[in-house]
Amino acid sequence: MYRPDPIDEAYIFTNGLILSSTDLKGIITYANRKFCTIAGYDKSELIGKNHNIIRHPDMPKAAFKEVWDSIQAGKDWSGLVKNLRKDGRYYWVYSHISPIYNDGELTGYSAARRPATDNEVSEILPVYADLLEKESN
Ligand SMILES: Cc1cc2nc3c(=O)[nH]c(=O)nc-3n(C[C@H](O)[C@H](O)[C@H](O)COP(=O)(O)O)c2cc1C
Repeated sequence: MYRPDPIDEAYIFTNGLILSSTDLKGIITYANRKFCTIAGYDKSELIGKNHNIIRHPDMPKAAFKEVWDSIQAGKDWSGLVKNLRKDGRYYWVYSHISPIYNDGELTGYSAARRPATDNEVSEILPVYADLLEKESN
């Protein structure tokens, strides 16, 4: 029986919020239960790891550059992200990432995501494909 490469298989995320926090370098310091379930990892496998552990190869570098440029400047970033599960399947989220301040000092970042809608995904697909193609040249 033909089975596609798992990287081409969607994992459907339908409800709830995926939450995580990182330090200033993007090392995961907090992951809620939903994050673990949807990404397919145990909490102990996520805490202390770089957040790029769930980076999908279809995501353009330019998207993450925009994320880091925004949050390091103290601004929020919102957008669509295709993430990679531990089992190789992918899931799309609409993500909101913000700086965390403690007594006025930037100490880390936090992110909240909901499932992306089909419309959001179909709108962003050509944009990311275009960026990826430019990055491969
Ligand atoms: C709070 C926070 C949440 C993040 N969430 C994700 C995420 O869900 N998926 C992802 O691929 N990268 C996420 N990133 C960006 C990663 O840190 C990383 O920049 C990205 O995966 C690209 O990997 P690279 O920087 O090693 O090229 C997040 C960063 C921060 C600070």
